[in-house]
Amino acid sequence: MTVTARPDVAVIGGSGLYALLEQVDEVVVDTPYGAPSDPITIGLVEGRPIAFLPRHGRDHRFPPHRIPYRANLWALRSLGVRQILAPCAVGGLRPELGPGTFVVPDQLVDRTSGRAQTFHDVGAVHVSFADPYCPVGRSAVLANAENAVDEGTMVVVEGPRFSTRAESRWFTAQGWSVVNMTGHPEAVLARELAVCYTAIALVTDLDAGVDAGEEVTQEEVFRVFAENTDRMRTLVLQTAAALPKDRDCPCSHALDGIELALELP
Ligand code: ADE
Repeated sequence: MTVTARPDVAVIGGSGLYALLEQVDEVVVDTPYGAPSDPITIGLVEGRPIAFLPRHGRDHRFPPHRIPYRANLWALRSLGVRQILAPCAVGGLRPELGPGTFVVPDQLVDRTSGRAQTFHDVGAVHVSFADPYCPVGRSAVLANAENAVDEGTMVVVEGPRFSTRAESRWFTAQGWSVVNMTGHPEAVLARELAVCYTAIALVTDLDAGVDAGEEVTQEEVFRVFAENTDRMRTLVLQTAAALPKDRDCPCSHALDGIELALELP
């Protein structure tokens, strides 16, 4: 297949979602930040060109703390992408958020350390990030999901280890809903490029502080994600096709009035 139009929507797939589209064009992109996690595939969904990038690489070679986040976001924008759907695996921090639940978070807490989290190392570029996720993208996901939880704070930990029970109980006590390892800096890097970003969190486990007596294991996370891959794929494809083509959300205006030292792709 030859995709003639540029994709304005992309999906960044998480653990267990390494391929999304059929009959794709594959594009190898280089960026000032190095190569993205994988070549980007572009396919048509209901006639609309959609890009797909597996954030860990298709063979899951990049652990959360080694993902080339800046290269990934830069590469997608350089292809024309202006809206991103970001499926990810998360641990639930409340008993009612059990495995298999979809959560569409509206807030984020950054507990990562040492990750490059800006494109703007020169000049005064301070984007607003009070509401880290695109309101239009969130509405589109919620309209296409059955029983998704419409709120929630996602705390992003550095990993690659899971949290201790004390850390996990502390997250719950703060009122946070889910925990994961990849949601930051992906969201803020999208905002710094004025690209809309919507996280779609699939709960794969109850975190260590919630389910006393049980530990979170990698095997459990991967198994539950695999069991729910078809649901996630359907939700993501329906939502991607339904996203409005014209944007006027706050994310699209993130750089209005700001002088950049850098030329955006
Ligand atoms: N991803 C999936 N489950 C997780 C957990 N419990 N903690 C951090 N990241 C996760």
